[in-house]
Amino acid sequence: MHIGIDRFGLSTPHLYVDLREVAVQRGDEPDKYTIGIGQDQQAVTPSSQDIVTLGAQAVLEFREDIDMDRLGLLVVGTESGVDSSKASALYIHRLLHLPSSVRCMEIKEACYGGTGALMMARDYIVAHPDKQAIVIAADIARYGLATSGEVTQGAGAIAMLISKDPHILEIHDDSIVHSEDIQDFWRPLYTDCALARGKYSTEKYIEFFNDVWERYTQNYYVTLDNFAALCFHLPFSKMGLKALRTILPTTSEETQQCLLDRYQKSVYYCRRIGNVYTASLYLGILSLLDNDSTLQDNDTIAAFSYGSGAIGELFTLTLVPGYAQYLHSEQHHAILDNRQQVSVEEYEQIFTDMVPYAADDYETNKDYHHGSFILTGVIGQERQYQRM
Ligand code: CAA
Repeated sequence: MHIGIDRFGLSTPHLYVDLREVAVQRGDEPDKYTIGIGQDQQAVTPSSQDIVTLGAQAVLEFREDIDMDRLGLLVVGTESGVDSSKASALYIHRLLHLPSSVRCMEIKEACYGGTGALMMARDYIVAHPDKQAIVIAADIARYGLATSGEVTQGAGAIAMLISKDPHILEIHDDSIVHSEDIQDFWRPLYTDCALARGKYSTEKYIEFFNDVWERYTQNYYVTLDNFAALCFHLPFSKMGLKALRTILPTTSEETQQCLLDRYQKSVYYCRRIGNVYTASLYLGILSLLDNDSTLQDNDTIAAFSYGSGAIGELFTLTLVPGYAQYLHSEQHHAILDNRQQVSVEEYEQIFTDMVPYAADDYETNKDYHHGSFILTGVIGQERQYQRM
């Protein structure tokens, strides 16, 4: 049975800040951000948006392709949950008017949550071949103003419709996994900003990648030449490149150049949006598919998922013949091109106006709102969502 991604949906806030301007404000060299880290722009999330509104917006892109009689599962992978108990999937379920027969839940393991959700959905279709599942990977990456992680913030959601005989990508049952309890990046319960041992986290990312890559190639008797492209979890666009460079010397110069060219296509959206934690591997895959016209039907792509804490997983996907006609590439470019730039001062104001960790009522700033779903505020400790 062929199981995989039948449709993709993308959403990101309609505001962004230019990172060269942020660099100047912070007294850093702009080239450090755009070349050293590899980020040009960063999504700025107004208080009226969170992973629920972003996730629901991403599903809208393929809402017409969902067969409500077959839909059985909705899983959100996120590390920006809006409640310690209730799954964000239930708010999204109501906003999208999905059937009450759908199982709804949320999965957490740092940036791996989206992959965890995808693998669960894949297994669900193995057990129930006639069903469909929706996977949403959605996150708002926050480290804090003037921190070393600030340049790697971002926000967005990728939604995927999972079924048998998919139209875009088949997901193979070939995962190689590395799990280990480490303290490279985490977020204590009292705050919406993450803590990271920056350098250590980048070293562990590469170490985990090298381990799963070596075991994958040995287990399945393959080499780099078997893959048309490699896509990575992208906390920032330079990170995947650092990992890719460790294995490039195992192939010819021509193949190296092809893989590097495709890598640049896979990070195009990340450079403009930033880190979207659980969604970033899938933003990278979508960016590659939307922006590379040299890929062929039946090409195989290797995907490396990394969630701090930490888990690394390598698996592969194959392009379904005719996949290109099921992408909404122009729409995705329009989402990015039609965003509104804010100044560094405005970005700082918006960043600090977020739902507080407190019992008080709170009203979000509607002036910045854009999109089909809105978080209007918190009343009596309950979040208030509306479809516009
Ligand atoms: N021109 C060009 N390049 C420059 C430059 C200039 N003027 N100035 C500096 N650089 C280069 C540096 O040489 C360096 O390059 P290399 O990494 O290739 O050596 C790069 O810019 C970054 O410089 P620093 O290492 O000095 O940067 P930093 O100390 O400020 O921190 C960071 C960088 C560790 C990534 C930090 O942003 C951070 O902590 N980010 C959050 C954690 C993170 O993203 N970790 C990634 C792995 S964990 C993960 O993947 C999960 C997740 O999503 C968080």
